[in-house]
Amino acid sequence: MTTQPIYLDFNASTPIDPQVAETLKPFLSQHFGNPSSPHWAGIPAKEAVEHARQQVAGLLQCSPGEIVFTSGGSESNNHAIKGVFFALRKKGNHIITTQIEHPAVINPCRFLERLGAEITYVPVDRYARVEPQDIRKAITGRTILITVMHANNEVGTIQSIEEISKIAKERGILFHTDAAQSVGKIATKVDDLGVDLLSIAGHKLYTPKGVGALYIRQGTPIEPLIHGAGHESGRRAGTENVLLIVGLGKACETAKQYLSDNKILKLREHFWKLLQGNFGAGVVLNGHPFHRLPNTLNVSFVGKVGGEILSRLDGVAASTGAACHSGSVELSPVLKAMGIAPEVGMGAIRFSLGRTTTVQELERVIHLLKNWVFTKLTE
Ligand SMILES: Cc1ncc(COP(=O)(O)O)c(C=O)c1O
Repeated sequence: MTTQPIYLDFNASTPIDPQVAETLKPFLSQHFGNPSSPHWAGIPAKEAVEHARQQVAGLLQCSPGEIVFTSGGSESNNHAIKGVFFALRKKGNHIITTQIEHPAVINPCRFLERLGAEITYVPVDRYARVEPQDIRKAITGRTILITVMHANNEVGTIQSIEEISKIAKERGILFHTDAAQSVGKIATKVDDLGVDLLSIAGHKLYTPKGVGALYIRQGTPIEPLIHGAGHESGRRAGTENVLLIVGLGKACETAKQYLSDNKILKLREHFWKLLQGNFGAGVVLNGHPFHRLPNTLNVSFVGKVGGEILSRLDGVAASTGAACHSGSVELSPVLKAMGIAPEVGMGAIRFSLGRTTTVQELERVIHLLKNWVFTKLTE
């Protein structure tokens, strides 16, 4: 690599916030006790976990008792979906979701199909939005859960969660949202969204990997995913990962200050204008023009292959939306569900910006794309 690396893959994972890193230190060097131990070593650990629970609840505006710590977004989604299915097995077996969910939702649903669940995968429009009325139409007398992601990880499209939750509530059906990508980027107050269950992934929120949380509205019928001792009020067994839980708490507290700051949005818009200015009709936007995460810019370089472009963008970390297998290009399930044409989808690149992104980095990417990649690709 000849230049400073540029990280534009914040939807894949984020660096650890310096304030979060600072908060972790005493838990690496001093507070090693088991939070379940009622002595001098356990008490600070227990207090730290409960403080973190308040911090997470503060961001979601719920009661701390409604937060269960998990190992991340995948566990939270598995807990929500399987937990409701097992708790309401006698009431019904039908779950409604969408075609653009993360594999951490799609695959638990596929697993439950093997156990007798019926799953409806509702389609989306070309911007990756699901029509709430399509969710309503999918409801049957056996529907026990609706799970629709808050914001999509690939194209950033935000769903009308408030509208869908109203439909769920009218019909007395539980509603879960995978908010792994939205927490910390846009408002995620659970009462405004109207959800019963909401998943958080710590490493998308400037805290280390391997920690997350599941919001469970008080009174929601749900089985634990991990059975064992009575940790997390009997909802998730296993000695709490105090270190990472403390990090998640601090990350949630820190995130509040960024919610009203539109610096990242402005940078993204600047980047998009530069791309359009330089590549004109050769570059198109994937995702919703405005119902979209402020940091996400998924664009297609028409007729090109995203993976080839990225492999030539020396030192730039971003993601593609298509995989190349022995000469043929397979679009991601999200781009396919959006009905993106193969010659457009194969050129998809997801640039996801973050708190440390600078205008100089974005301008450098444009420079690299113009002077190096495109001359090479047309040679
Ligand atoms: C929308 C969404 N849900 C769930 C996950 C899984 O989260 P984790 O990596 O913490 O298991 C991700 C991570 O990429 C995601 O983007």
